[in-house]
Amino acid sequence: MLVKELLSELTERFERAGLDEARADARLLISFGINKQPVFLRMNPDFEIESDDLTKIRAFAERRLKREPVSKIIQTRGFWRLDFKVTADVLDPRPDSETLIEEALKLFKDKLAPLKILDLGTGSGCLAQALLCEYVNATAIGLDSSEKALAIAAENALTIGMKKRFSTVLADWNVDGWEKSLGTFDLIIANPPYIAEKERPTLSPEVVDYDPEQALFAGADGLDAYRRISPVLPRLLNKGGVFIAEFGQGQEEDVRRIICSNGLIFKTFGTDLGGITRCLSAFLPES
Ligand SMILES: C[S@@+](CC[C@H](N)C(=O)[O-])C[C@H]1O[C@@H](n2cnc3c(N)ncnc32)[C@H](O)[C@@H]1O
Repeated sequence: MLVKELLSELTERFERAGLDEARADARLLISFGINKQPVFLRMNPDFEIESDDLTKIRAFAERRLKREPVSKIIQTRGFWRLDFKVTADVLDPRPDSETLIEEALKLFKDKLAPLKILDLGTGSGCLAQALLCEYVNATAIGLDSSEKALAIAAENALTIGMKKRFSTVLADWNVDGWEKSLGTFDLIIANPPYIAEKERPTLSPEVVDYDPEQALFAGADGLDAYRRISPVLPRLLNKGGVFIAEFGQGQEEDVRRIICSNGLIFKTFGTDLGGITRCLSAFLPES
C-alpha cells in the first residue's frame, strides 16, 4: 500500500470517529511506523509501505481509535525544544506548562548560576530537565511518589544528556522528614494534580483514560495537593528562594492564599498562550 492511500484511509477513519486532528494524527502514526520524519510523507506520497510496517501502523490506528493519544502511542512528546519519552506511567506534558519555564527565566536572569532546583511531582521530568537545558550549571532533583514515573524521568535525563545533573527521589510530598535529607533549594517548581473530582466527567478519554489518575485529581476542589505541599516549602527553600507552581483555570486566588498562608510572599502570576492565568511565583523572605 502507498503512503498516500494509507494516509487517506486513516484520515477518513479518524474523522468518522470524531478525532479533531485526524490527518495530523494519521501522518504521525504512519511516519512513526515506517521510521521516518513526517515531512518524508509529503515528499514521498508514492512510497510503498512494507507489510510488516502496515500491520504495525494499523495496530497504532486501532489504539488511536480507542482514544489513546498519539504521544503515548509513539512514546514521545516535545516540550521546550526537547523530546521526552512518555508512557502510561506519566502525564503527557502539556504546552501550557511551558509557562512555568518562561516564568523561571524572567526571575532567574543569570543562565550560568549554579541553581539548586527541586521539581515536585516530576512525572516525565520535563520541567526539571527543561530548566537544566536553560541553566547549564544547575542541578535538579525530581521528586515523585510514583516509582514508575521516576524511572521514565531518569531515562529521559539519560537520553537528553542530563544524567549528571538530574537525580530522582521517591517520596510523598506530604511525608514529614524527607525534606531534611534533601537540603534547600533556590527554585522549587511544581505542576501538581489540580483537577477537582467533579470535573472528571468533563475530561476527554485521552486524558482520563491515559494519564495516570494520581497525576490528575486532587480532591473535591482540586486544591488538596497545594494544601499538602504548602507547609513544607519554607523548610525546603533558601532565603529568597522561589516557588513556581501551575494550577487550573480560575484557581489562582485559592492557590495564592494557600501558598502564602505558610510564610511565602506572592510575586507574580504567569499567563499561558491561551491568555489563562496558569502559574504563580512566590518567594521565601530573607527574614
Ligand atoms: C500533573 S503531574 C505533573 C508531571 C510533570 N511535572 C509535568 O508537568 O508534566 C503530577 C505528578 O505529581 C505526582 N504526585 C501526585 N501525588 C503525589 C504525592 N502525594 N507526592 C509526590 N508526587 C505526587 C504524580 O505521580 C505526577 O507525576
